[in-house]
Amino acid sequence: MSTQNQTARAGAQPASAQSAGVQSAESRPAQPAGAQSVGAESMPAQPSPERTTHFGYQTVDAADKARLVGEVFRSVAGRYDLMNDLMSFGAHRGWKRFAASQSALRHGDAVLDAAGGSGDMAKLLARQVGRAGRVVLTDINAAMLAEGKSRMLDAGLANMEYALADAEQLPFDDDTFDCVSMAFGLRNVTHPREALASLHRVLRPGGRLLVLEFSKPLIPWLNKIYDGYSFAVIPALGKLVAGDESSYRYLVESIRRHPDQHALKALMRGAGFDEVKIHNLSAGIVALHIGFKY
Ligand SMILES: C[S@@+](CC[C@H](N)C(=O)[O-])C[C@H]1O[C@@H](n2cnc3c(N)ncnc32)[C@H](O)[C@@H]1O
Repeated sequence: MSTQNQTARAGAQPASAQSAGVQSAESRPAQPAGAQSVGAESMPAQPSPERTTHFGYQTVDAADKARLVGEVFRSVAGRYDLMNDLMSFGAHRGWKRFAASQSALRHGDAVLDAAGGSGDMAKLLARQVGRAGRVVLTDINAAMLAEGKSRMLDAGLANMEYALADAEQLPFDDDTFDCVSMAFGLRNVTHPREALASLHRVLRPGGRLLVLEFSKPLIPWLNKIYDGYSFAVIPALGKLVAGDESSYRYLVESIRRHPDQHALKALMRGAGFDEVKIHNLSAGIVALHIGFKY
């Protein structure tokens, strides 16, 4: 595990952590340390599915994924917003606006943007909760969080809170937020189930989770064009604009490895979310999943 990840898991807390219901790492229940089943020594020596995971199209040790993803976002942080605009022809702004419009937030509510990076969602949600509300922007990556903080200050949003935190083990109390958003973050975490469970835990009963992610295009001919564009153009654009082809190849591959609309809905239901709704955007290139905690 990377040092950065350890910092997040050790509950690095923002100055304003208390007001956001931040829970210290010590007060959280200990995680099971790799459960051993009875008679495990007599089983064939096969890698447990939880010990490996995917990093794009590569199979990697699960313990390495956070570091590899961390390298990707450290490398692209400075050009992240520009690349989003170029790759999506600006469409990501509309996807995020739609997601924010589904938050049902009111003045004075508390909202968490998990894996929030440069903070597009946090910025939109901050307008909905107003100055009386609370907006917490978190990310596991210090470079991305720094981008987010600088953009929030540029936008005149001074009353935000920031925390370097792993979405799989959020350092907040149970039942803290009225809404949690995670935009284009879930496919990057090592254990999506743990992340969803953690997001569910910090939501208040009656609150909703918004998961915005790339998904499976619904039109077969579009799929072919989309694949051609993704594999031929995006890594080349990454090389040209961000000086990093491999990070953008990871981006394209990670989208293909991410669960489709129905598989993600099942994952969310498995994590305890009710009434999970799917909104396909741009013909399913992206989907917004909304789940409720009751
Ligand atoms: C594609 S960016 C999305 C950023 C932003 N939400 C947006 O929509 O533009 C993915 C973000 O997820 C963050 N991330 C990856 N793994 C994470 C984890 N386990 N916990 C929290 N953030 C994570 C990365 O550092 C990165 O900032």
